[in-house]
Amino acid sequence: MHAPRSSVVSAVTCAAACDALTIIDQTQLPLALVELSLTELHEMVEAIQSLRVRGAPAIGVAGAIGLAVIATRAALASPATFDAAVAQAADALRSARPTAVNLAWAVDRVLAAGQVGGAAPGIRAGAMRDEAIAICNDDVAMCERIGMHGATLLRGGMRVLTHCNAGALAPAGIGTALAPVYTLHARGDAITVFADETRPLLQGARLTAWELDRAGIPVTLLTDGMAASVMRDGRIDAVLVGADRIAANGDVADKIGTYGLAVLALHHGIPFYVLAPTSTLDPQAPNGASMPIEMRDASEVRMHAGVQTAPGTVAVHNPAFDVTPAALVSAIVTDAGVFHPPYHFTD
Ligand code: MRU
Repeated sequence: MHAPRSSVVSAVTCAAACDALTIIDQTQLPLALVELSLTELHEMVEAIQSLRVRGAPAIGVAGAIGLAVIATRAALASPATFDAAVAQAADALRSARPTAVNLAWAVDRVLAAGQVGGAAPGIRAGAMRDEAIAICNDDVAMCERIGMHGATLLRGGMRVLTHCNAGALAPAGIGTALAPVYTLHARGDAITVFADETRPLLQGARLTAWELDRAGIPVTLLTDGMAASVMRDGRIDAVLVGADRIAANGDVADKIGTYGLAVLALHHGIPFYVLAPTSTLDPQAPNGASMPIEMRDASEVRMHAGVQTAPGTVAVHNPAFDVTPAALVSAIVTDAGVFHPPYHFTD
């Protein structure tokens, strides 16, 4: 018996009032399911930077709602004070993390919605709220469509490998890479997921394993170094990953380790699929070299679960993402359909 979709949690929720940004605090998973209601700009920025809310589409939705919350609170102020508060919030939210294009895209959409010439702050804040809610609702719909299109590449009985978390904890909807998994499961088709633990922050172990287990979908956890031998043993039929930014030529920025999986998949003749909403496409980036890659603190690698696991002074390289060349990607699935190489994502 398959689990109802109500067992699938959402990273960020859209309340029409936009009086707070409500997220699941993902740093507490899998031990505790805690919801946070954030009303202050510094709390929102901290939540994005420390990965309380994470995943490209989810931080876009969080940025959009966060900006609408700040605008709503400033709506009774003078137009000049309103403008200053909105501009400061937009800058801080937009730059909280650099790689996922969804964040700047969503913040700029809400900002543009508030540019109603000559209108009072209250009217402008209302337009910003409407836009933020629309971004959130669109995200839910896009995930459903990714699930539908992605499911055409899969069939019941398949075993798929995924990396990081591109499930329901990464957008507002049912997921991107995992959307077709939920779609197949909901229609009663068997599907098995192998989840990389995803060092250093363990999104695969803490989040993907947690949400799939909760939804009743069979999931087997692997450490990152196990993917090669599991593929060679013939236990993987397809690799499904999300994306933080996709360049016009189809190069894909995604969680560090994605590139290695793509190389392995090619070597073993396994299809490598990238699934993401159209809000993750960046036609302004011609290729992977023009996509900014976030570098994170060395402590994430020197420590594990609060315990030091390496010499405190050892040099560390800690990019949060890598770039997979388009040539290694069998298909890119968006809410608009399934795209095969050569990729040309233009405006
Ligand atoms: O650092 P994170 O946890 O925000 O990284 C998330 C990923 O890399 C996901 O794979 C990506 O955002 C796609 S999520 C739909």
